Amino acid sequence: MAAGETRLEGKVVLVTGASGGIGVEIVRRLAAEGAVVVATDLDAEPCERVLADLPAPGRHTALALDIADEEAWKTLCAAVSDRFGGLDALVNNGAIGSIGSVVDEELARYERVIAVSQTGTWLGMKHAGALIERSGGGSIVNLCSILGTVGGLGNSLAYAAAKGAVRTMTKNAALHWACAGVRVNSVHPGFIGTAQLLERFQGSERHAAMLAGTPMGRLGAAEEVAAAVAFLAGDDATYITGTELYVDGGWTAA
Ligand SMILES: NC(=O)c1ccc[n+]([C@@H]2O[C@H](COP(=O)([O-])OP(=O)(O)OC[C@H]3O[C@@H](n4cnc5c(N)ncnc54)[C@H](O)[C@@H]3O)[C@@H](O)[C@H]2O)c1
Repeated sequence: MAAGETRLEGKVVLVTGASGGIGVEIVRRLAAEGAVVVATDLDAEPCERVLADLPAPGRHTALALDIADEEAWKTLCAAVSDRFGGLDALVNNGAIGSIGSVVDEELARYERVIAVSQTGTWLGMKHAGALIERSGGGSIVNLCSILGTVGGLGNSLAYAAAKGAVRTMTKNAALHWACAGVRVNSVHPGFIGTAQLLERFQGSERHAAMLAGTPMGRLGAAEEVAAAVAFLAGDDATYITGTELYVDGGWTAA
């Protein structure tokens, strides 16, 4: 199905990290398929700018949410319930990384990456997932990474720890809700050529290593990740739970 069709018509979908490189494309794709998007990030203002570019911005809502803050999740879910009467899907996209290796990562940075990227994802499942269950069921899509599964380039240890936990938490939550109508799956991007990633790494040895390790020989596009998210969020995936979908140009197949 191409973007623009209405597979997600009327579904209320909450996206975290919605103003980041991949988050913006997820919001655009979900909206193009008919979803009503609740776009959240640390600040609401960049999310408002993302929504302003959509064809019917008034259908959607931008809200601030720090995913590492449990009280903020409770407040946000109450606001979504009041405004929309329920929630159909959650895209746990927000995360932070760190490039440090097993020997040079710093403890404070490690703990922050875990707090946001791992615990933040769990808190989303706990609170927004419960709201989805009360709303009659739906879908949770957790943005994971190839680094949740394989060693990548041998650095980013804290990020790999967090994403490895997201991968297994996804399966654990999928089993918890298997008969309750809440599906939980993970999407594992490889190296995606967002503006942020290119700004940081273009022309570097790391950039060359990303390309060299990717069988397709190119970085992915954020739109290609968004397409996988939209598929798992909607009713084309009603018998899919606890699975992991790689959008990695073949990295993990090699
Ligand atoms: N870009 C890649 O190559 C790549 C590869 C594999 C996986 N991923 C995953 O895809 C997702 C999106 O990645 P991206 O490249 O767009 O990253 P990004 O850094 O561009 O965006 C992440 C977003 O998360 C937000 N965020 C950070 N801390 C937060 C917090 N405490 N609460 C709420 N929001 C917070 C940021 O403000 C930002 O908008 C992440 O889960 C990332 O781990 C990305």
